[in-house]
Amino acid sequence: MKPITVQAPANIAFIKYWGNNEDNLPLNNSISMTLSRCQTTTTVKLAEELAEDVVELQGNDGTYRKLSQETIKEKKAYEHINRIRMIAGVTTKLHVKSTNSFPTDAGIASSASGFSALTAGVLLAYGLREIFEDKLQLSKLVRLSGSGSAARSVYGGYVELLAHMNHDNSYAVQLADEHHWDIADVIAIIKTKSKETPTSEGHRSAVTSPYFETRLNEMQQRIIATRDAIRERDIEKLGRAIEADTISMHAIMMTSVPPLFYWESGTIEIIKHVREWRKGGLGAFFSIDAGANVHVICEKKDAEEVQKKLTGLPHVQKTIMNAPTQGVHEVDTHLF
Ligand code: DP6
Repeated sequence: MKPITVQAPANIAFIKYWGNNEDNLPLNNSISMTLSRCQTTTTVKLAEELAEDVVELQGNDGTYRKLSQETIKEKKAYEHINRIRMIAGVTTKLHVKSTNSFPTDAGIASSASGFSALTAGVLLAYGLREIFEDKLQLSKLVRLSGSGSAARSVYGGYVELLAHMNHDNSYAVQLADEHHWDIADVIAIIKTKSKETPTSEGHRSAVTSPYFETRLNEMQQRIIATRDAIRERDIEKLGRAIEADTISMHAIMMTSVPPLFYWESGTIEIIKHVREWRKGGLGAFFSIDAGANVHVICEKKDAEEVQKKLTGLPHVQKTIMNAPTQGVHEVDTHLF
């Protein structure tokens, strides 16, 4: 059988998913935009000769490393292949190779692109094309991998992941496609090695923050404002919601038991600069995930200026300029 290759984008959450229950179900809706320059490409081959699945990921030095079952994320990848194999009702093992277009250990959400690509590639390799094509079903299956953000990379453009108390109703929907609005996410990389607490631990401890319920309540109006801002292409409205949600999520992290601090001094430096630039009339807004790097969101017309300004800051090692892009899709160039 010919190999199958798919490509999937990472995404930046405007409204962050933070906190889940014992079934790994997200406790709040999240809204994101796909990222054109942060892509995972994954090739999957049926491997009759293998007794166990082999998943290899290309490192920053260009060589492929077999994923072990030791870390939570790596284990999840093998478990997820098993889950899809059960749906297919077969026993054939798989050989999977995967590469990222961005630094793998730079603390950018590589699992969003990684798990959506893995799900799509494995489905297609096992002949489950109807699930791949039904994006709602696909997003449900991607979410079961354990990476909620990955469920949003199924569609292009602007996407909302719906929180619900059962697996069948927690899936992603597209709010607008990648052509709807030309905005940019300029990522400022200030730290390339990430030894942060895994997000899975953070999701579980989020409810220990005394402010968690407050966040769930106060974010409802922000979710509505974010949907409206996307529909109306209103960068000020979107930016205000993005920054408020970042601060709200990090407040939960910092007040959980045990507390989580993802920010570095460079993170604060960029936050302060972005706020200053805005006083000078630049429509730029910060967003920070479970790491120290800062995403700066602006309209495309301002993206080059934002990139230039970020590049000039002492803590910034490099920047990655992103536009909204299509969701997970099949390609015809294979990695092996
Ligand atoms: C802070 O459970 O999707 O990025 O699998 O590590 O990407 P990963 O985590 P996931 O949680 C995402 C947490 C977040 C916010 C978000 O993307 O919504």
